[in-house]
Amino acid sequence: MLKRIFVPLMVYVMLVCPVVPSLAEGHDPSAFLSILTEGKTNWNFSTEPVNETDLHTILEAGVNTASAINEQPWIITVITDPEIIAQLADTSGSAKAPVMILISVTSGNEMKILDAGLATQSMQIAARALGYATKIETAPARAVRNDKSGKWAEKLGIPSDKAARATLFIGHADETTDSVSSASARNDFNSVVVFVPDN
Ligand SMILES: Cc1cc2nc3c(=O)[nH]c(=O)nc-3n(C[C@H](O)[C@H](O)[C@H](O)COP(=O)(O)O)c2cc1C
Repeated sequence: MLKRIFVPLMVYVMLVCPVVPSLAEGHDPSAFLSILTEGKTNWNFSTEPVNETDLHTILEAGVNTASAINEQPWIITVITDPEIIAQLADTSGSAKAPVMILISVTSGNEMKILDAGLATQSMQIAARALGYATKIETAPARAVRNDKSGKWAEKLGIPSDKAARATLFIGHADETTDSVSSASARNDFNSVVVFVPDN
């Protein structure tokens, strides 16, 4: 009797259940985790390009991000034209990197803004895991979103139901400047983490 239940159950588990990847299984997760705890914003980039395969991997991380009710409300615009990057960066005096990614989501629902943030962060983590320097910004996305003429949305192929919410710069750090030691301090763990019940 037990065998009749156990064997089909094992076959189901082995064949049908999706395998959820986990760094903890057979891998040392410490290098990856240090990206999350020690990764810093890069403020100055060199002109060295981002490898195409790496860029694809980074974008896959964005495309596969979870979203509210799995709506995947984003369009991910990958800009490598230095002139366009310079123009958009100049509207906010922001960073300039060889790759600028704009994340646009369906307008009019704050949950979608959270989705945009998650997709942006997924791509940032993927880029950092591949050894790239990154910076998230909102200012260039805001410039595109608030452009009443619609010139930027048209130029970048952003559909009218979507609004640019976040920007991710990816490249290599300009080694002639120091991005890391000027990094902003983080709040003390105990001042922001609350356990319920408190133990
Ligand atoms: C959601 C978000 C929006 C940001 N927007 C801008 C921006 O518009 N312009 C800018 O120069 N930096 C922007 N930043 C960069 C932050 O100022 C930076 O990540 C923060 O100071 C932490 O820097 P650190 O990682 O070097 O400590 C943004 C960062 C995040 C996460």
